[in-house]
This record gives sequence, C-alpha cells and structure tokens, in this order.
Amino acid sequence: KVDLSLDPTTLAFKPVPAAIADDHQVSGGYVAEAVIRWGDAVLADAPAFDPSQHSAEAQAKQFGYNNDFLAFMPLPAGSDNADHGLLCVNHEYVNPVLMAPEARRKDPELAQERAAIEMAAHGHTVVEIKRNAKGQWEPVAGGRYNRRITAHTPMTLSGPAAGHARLRTHADPSGAHVLGTLNNCAGGVTPWGTILTAEENFHKYFDGHTSDPLEAPAHKAYGLGRGAAFPWAQFEPRFDLAQSPREPNRFGWVVEIDPYDPQSTPVKHTALGRFKHEAATTALTRDGRVVVYSGDDETFQFLYRFVSARAMNPNDRQANLGLLDEGVLSVARFSEEGTLQWLPLIHGQGPLTAENGFHDQGEVLIETRRAAALLGATPMDRPEDVEPNPVNGKVYVMLTNNKSRQPSEVDPANPRCNNQYGHVLELTPPGPDAPEHDAETFRWDVFLLAGPLDGEAEARYHPLTAHHGSWMAAPDNCCFDKRGRLWITTDQGGSQAKRNHPDGVYGMDVDGPGRGLPKRLYAAPRDAELCGPCFTPDNATLFVAVQHPSEHKKVAYENPTTRWPDFDPALPPRPAVVAIRRVDGGPIGG
Ligand code: FEO
Ligand code: CA
Ligand code: CA
Ligand code: CA
Repeated sequence: KVDLSLDPTTLAFKPVPAAIADDHQVSGGYVAEAVIRWGDAVLADAPAFDPSQHSAEAQAKQFGYNNDFLAFMPLPAGSDNADHGLLCVNHEYVNPVLMAPEARRKDPELAQERAAIEMAAHGHTVVEIKRNAKGQWEPVAGGRYNRRITAHTPMTLSGPAAGHARLRTHADPSGAHVLGTLNNCAGGVTPWGTILTAEENFHKYFDGHTSDPLEAPAHKAYGLGRGAAFPWAQFEPRFDLAQSPREPNRFGWVVEIDPYDPQSTPVKHTALGRFKHEAATTALTRDGRVVVYSGDDETFQFLYRFVSARAMNPNDRQANLGLLDEGVLSVARFSEEGTLQWLPLIHGQGPLTAENGFHDQGEVLIETRRAAALLGATPMDRPEDVEPNPVNGKVYVMLTNNKSRQPSEVDPANPRCNNQYGHVLELTPPGPDAPEHDAETFRWDVFLLAGPLDGEAEARYHPLTAHHGSWMAAPDNCCFDKRGRLWITTDQGGSQAKRNHPDGVYGMDVDGPGRGLPKRLYAAPRDAELCGPCFTPDNATLFVAVQHPSEHKKVAYENPTTRWPDFDPALPPRPAVVAIRRVDGGPIGG
C-alpha cells in the first residue's frame, strides 16, 4: 500500500497551484524577478524604451521581442562563475498588435518603419549580466560583449551545401553569405563555449509564389507559398518568392554564434540539415567527436542527430569552430521493440540519388525533409527540445502535441491519436560505462504521457502525481540540473486559457522513487508561454523566458490581457527573461 503522505521526489518545494493569473507565480520560499525585457538597453548608445516613438534604429540596440532559448555563459570564458556572465537569448518572433498603439500600427506612412522594427526585434541578444549586493541579477547596459543580432546581421553558410547553386541569389551570387537569422526557437551550447541557435518557422516571412519547377515543390514541403505572417516582402524583395525563390533555402539551419567575440560572424552550418529546427543540443562521443541532437517541429516530422567527423581539441578553440562543417546527419526510426535506428542521410546511399533529384550532398541537406522521408524515418508528434542528460547519459525528447494523428497512424513512440497534450520519450544510448551517442542503435521508452489526470487523457505519470505534483501539457523546452533532474517548460498556446491551466516550469526526477512526478515551480503570466530554462553553474538561479504575455486572438495594444511585467498603464506587456532564486540562496529544487 502506498503512503500518500510521503513525497517520493527529491524536489523540496510545493507546486504552484493550477490557476492562471495576470502576474507570474512562484513556489513559496522562492523569488522570481524580471532581468531584462523587450526594449531594455543592450548596446551602450541604446535610447530608453518608448513604445509611442519606437524606431528600428532604437530596436536594433535594445532587447528584442519574444525571448525563447537562453544560455548563461560564465565570465571569464571557461570558468564556472555563477555571479557574472553573458546571457544569450533568442528572439523568435514578434506580436505586432501588442507592440505599438493602433494609430502608429495602421499609419501607412509608418508601414516600412514598422516592418524594419519587426526585423530588428528578431534574432538574438548577447548581454552581460551580474549579481548585485542583494543577489539580484542586473544587465550591464553597454557591456563590452553586448550584441544584437537581427534579420540583417551578415552571416556565412558553411559545410557541404555552402555555395550550392540552390543557395545562390541575385543579391548573393556566392551562395555563402546571408543576411540575418529568423524564428530562432530553442538552441544549445557547444563544449567549446559557443551558442547554437535553431531557425524554426522560417516560412512565415516569405510571401508570393514561384513557378520555378525545382523550387516550387520544395517550397511546399516546408510550408512556403501559403502567405506571410509579416508584410516584409513589400519592402525587401528577398522575402518575395516570385522574385527570390532560393532565398528561403538560406534559412532553416542551425547557426553558431561565438558570444565571447562580439565581432565574430555567425555561421549557418549546413551539415546539420535544413528543416524547422527546434533546438540543437550537444554531447561528446567517447573519442571526443561532437554529437548534435535536433528535432523538426511540425506534425509528422522527424528527430535528427549529427555526429562530427573530427574530435574536439580542448586546446584549440579556433579548430573547434569548424567541427560542425563535416560529419554525418542521421534521422530516427523507432521500431516496435523499443529500439531506435539512426539512418544516415548520405548522398548516393539508398534512395538518396540523382534519380530522386539528389545530385549531391548539398541537395540532400537543402531538402532534408524529403530525404529523411525516403529513408523511412518515423513521423513524430512535433519534436520540440531534445537534450542529453549529462548525469545519466540518456536523451530526452519533448513531443509537444499532434491533434492530427489518426487511430491508424498510432505507433509505439507516438502512442495516442489526437494527441492534445504531448509526451516525453527517453532514449538510451548503449554503453556499459559511458553513453555511446554515436551508436547506430539506441533503446527507447515512453517517459511520460502528458495531460490531465482525469483518465480521459490517458496520461501517464508517477502514480502519486495527483498527491504531490501537478500535471502538465505541451512540453516544449527542457534542461537538467547538476543532479540530472529534468526541468521542462510548457507551451499550450491558446489551450492554456481554455484549460485554465498555466504554462510553467516543472521539475522532476528521472531516476529513483520519484521518477516521472512533475512539480510546477513557476507559472507564467496570462497568455504567455514559458521557454528557455537554464541554470547558473551553481544551480542557485534558474533563468526562464516569458514569451508573448497577453498573446490572444481578441487583443490589441490598448486592451492587453495582462500588462506583465511592469503593470504600468503607459507600457504594453513585454516579453522578459526571469531569474528564479531561492530566498535562502540554496540550489533550485534542493
Ligand atoms: Fe518555436 Fe517549436 O516552438
Ligand atoms: Ca519551442
Ligand atoms: Ca534545452
Ligand atoms: Ca513554443
């Protein structure tokens, strides 16, 4: 008989109750404070944030919109300093209706400037942050590493597809130089101290159609040609598919940024494939080669792994910056028996030949989705973050939901049709001592099936979840603390309000008697999703990214559903990075 009074987990906090509020909520004994918000100064000469006078010039020097992935990179580089470092932040997309008063938004004379502000609010921020005497985190405006990366920052393409004819445009006949990075969702950190940022829903920025017989079907496979979410094509012809049908081939990559060198040029690594990359997280093989896991976040898309050809050299950072240019990209096939096979995407092997339209490895990488489908990869329920646990060596895959899966399409790794709540898979690489992340075959298991505990959802967690924890839905991002415990942030989208169940961050054990019992440490404010969980090296701070507070169908600048985090009638709601700390300064979760 189970003693319900005994909490089997190692997590010493009481979950935040399941109710949505205008403000964020954190468990007793913890504090949660905004560190930096949309519009705050990043570069030395950034003007103060003023939404009634906002300009693209100001935005390019200020913190961008919709913060997603977060990394804390200690200063000095290579140290484990937990009081001073670089906060590296993705800016995935923008919510124009929440960014400016209606009169400014609808003024035709300002349309081009509005688009330019949107472009400058995308990309990435590197900002120095420090703890003050009270233990609170503060940005160092004008810090010497501070940097804004936008839709216009020059980048290079490297790897097998760089310079490919299908990456060449009128503006860039070399096929190796791109302006900007877009829809940067999650990401990862390399063992040599750089950031990997993943370009996800890049189709949203391209308008029009092409009749190009080669590119038109390829566009369709990536959701291009269905109209743009942002009116940028009116002002920049590269976003018009009729005028520039190859420009979208230059997006959908993993981008490497060196936060310790503000002059460095970000690199789009084509060897890691082109798809709607959610994240890019790393591990090392036993002989020091680098492994990158990444998912393609769309219904019925796939899970991928890249293994570099060369090993990392701990004494040669410059050489490591080229490690992701050469290696093998594979895609996952999950079998009935709980085994997973990694299928390599190599030109000339199997169906990846000229007869199928793949004339070289570059083309296999530009059309990764089609190549992976031909190999027989398993269509998944929207792979979001995928991340190796540095303590137990297993790999955790967040599958956020898939309402389109029919009963006939159910398989053991995607076991529910109409999967509204999502699930988490646990992959186990072989190896008696150390995980063999480069092995051809892994084992796998369902770690949890998310959703309410009413039985209808067929959710599956630890049996004491209702007594000590909190159910969750739509797992999106994840990270691990020093004890190897899993922390998941959620993104239910519009379903959050309907369920009156907040998005938040959930901690859980992956081993021992509390395995698979989630506890909500923090709930996001109304109509926000939560992203980017990331610990300081001492685990005393957990950073999270509150994205799009007040994002709702029936909302305008003048009547947001919340004015978090400022609650100032003169200011709109603002996406912001939040630091969660314990009042007594101890490690998060105990
Ligand atoms: Fe941008 Fe897959 O979430
Ligand atoms: Ca995501
Ligand atoms: Ca992560
Ligand atoms: Ca999300």
